[in-house]
Amino acid sequence: MYRFMLTGLLALAIMITGVVQAGDEKPKTTKAYMKKAHAGAKSYLGMVKKAVEADNFKAAAKPMKGWASIAPHLAELKPSKGSEESWKEMTTKYADSVKALSKAVEDQDGDAAKKELKTIGGECRSCHTAHKGK
Ligand code: HEC
Repeated sequence: MYRFMLTGLLALAIMITGVVQAGDEKPKTTKAYMKKAHAGAKSYLGMVKKAVEADNFKAAAKPMKGWASIAPHLAELKPSKGSEESWKEMTTKYADSVKALSKAVEDQDGDAAKKELKTIGGECRSCHTAHKGK
């Protein structure tokens, strides 16, 4: 009996942890994703870019972690236009780039991080051309 209670308690603790983490992350629309990840100085991109340019990898670590955790989920959201295949391809490429950037930040490799930021910058434009708009 006691063991069952303990197991139940453990399951509850895991559930609560899961809820808290989920509440912090995962935007529900592409638009919300773009705002949180990319728009302005307070976005993940804004904070990571500023920190990387200042060679401050400690400051980059936290927003980078948040960004890397949501990037693979962009593929599950819907674009305003364009084909499904193209969306899948572009979101996959983008998620890979964010992952590479995350690794560079972790390694405190400024040159690699700047290179990945440039790659991601190019991906904004090509994806918007294909998938953003009415
Ligand atoms: C894989 C595709 C893709 C990539 C990569 C991408 N975007 Fe977007 N973005 C979109 C789509 C689709 C929309 C339109 C969303 C909508 O209207 O629902 C959008 C919209 C936006 C918006 C407008 C949000 C709003 O409030 O209406 C901003 C700002 C933006 N993106 C910034 C960026 C930046 C900066 C980057 C690169 C760092 C980027 N995006 C990379 C697909 C992408």
